[in-house]
Amino acid sequence: MPSYMIVGASRGLGTWLQYLSRNPENTIIGLARNPSAVRERLSTDGISKVHILPGDMASHKSLVAAAELAAPLLPNSLDVLIVNGAYANDAVSFLPPTGFSSATQASILHDDMHASLDVNVLGVVYSINALLPLINNGTGKKVVVISTGLDDPGRAIPIEGYDGNPMMITYSAMKAALNMVVAKYAADLKPLGVMTLALSPGVVNTRERQLSEEHGKTAMAMLEGFKKRAPHWKGPLTPVESVELQNKVIDGLTVEDSGKFLSHWGNKEWL
Ligand SMILES: NC(=O)c1ccc[n+]([C@@H]2O[C@H](COP(=O)([O-])OP(=O)(O)OC[C@H]3O[C@@H](n4cnc5c(N)ncnc54)[C@H](OP(=O)(O)O)[C@@H]3O)[C@@H](O)[C@H]2O)c1
Repeated sequence: MPSYMIVGASRGLGTWLQYLSRNPENTIIGLARNPSAVRERLSTDGISKVHILPGDMASHKSLVAAAELAAPLLPNSLDVLIVNGAYANDAVSFLPPTGFSSATQASILHDDMHASLDVNVLGVVYSINALLPLINNGTGKKVVVISTGLDDPGRAIPIEGYDGNPMMITYSAMKAALNMVVAKYAADLKPLGVMTLALSPGVVNTRERQLSEEHGKTAMAMLEGFKKRAPHWKGPLTPVESVELQNKVIDGLTVEDSGKFLSHWGNKEWL
């Protein structure tokens, strides 16, 4: 009876909860900042067997408390931890680095980077450390952190026929830092037999709110750029398609892969 915990499971790729609940043998726990909203959503979908606990990735205390609440539900062991939640801010994402030249913009970027660091990097460390005692007792011993192919410098740099991608500097830089954190954990946890993986989910259509007209245009230009670079690419995946592909990679994860940064295809093909 495999057990799973999804940290930051309230929406978007939080659809992990619905996907995993298809197998009645799975024990599933989701952490969310607003558990009641997630419980309501699951109950609308007719899903009752998933446990939702409070958990804020920006708070060490909150994740320690979540681990304590989770222990008796599992019971006392966790096979697969997926750290999914992330901070991103549209107002900053759709500017290139030179867009932050003025004092005001520099201050906005400073605050954005710090908020992102708190959730996307430190939140990963807090999550893994809080849940490690449960992972150690499990048989799966898999820790997966959701990253993004946007943090591959090869995707930012222009190449012939492709202008490169100067946008999303906070998000890409903090996710790159996250990949290093995942690699460090691979070294630290090897003696315990715990495997870690930074996993990109592909480009996934999870947006619930419309982008502003200006940001929408920038986003479309980015997608056009992706297509130029990878003409075979068919466009964004649905959350369920992405989760199915990610799950295959997680199922196949071995000790040799520990610390790697892979895509939903299990390689370095990000689209
Ligand atoms: N969608 C894509 O194309 C794409 C591509 C590459 C990588 N990713 C990565 O895939 C993961 C999921 O992306 P998504 O598209 O589903 O994102 P999303 O729709 O923007 O959802 C973000 C999730 O993170 C949670 N979250 C944010 N801050 C949190 C905090 N402090 N504590 C706990 N949870 C927090 C949100 O919960 P609240 O409801 O409480 O805000 C929400 O569940 C992220 O790591 C993202 O970087 C996505």
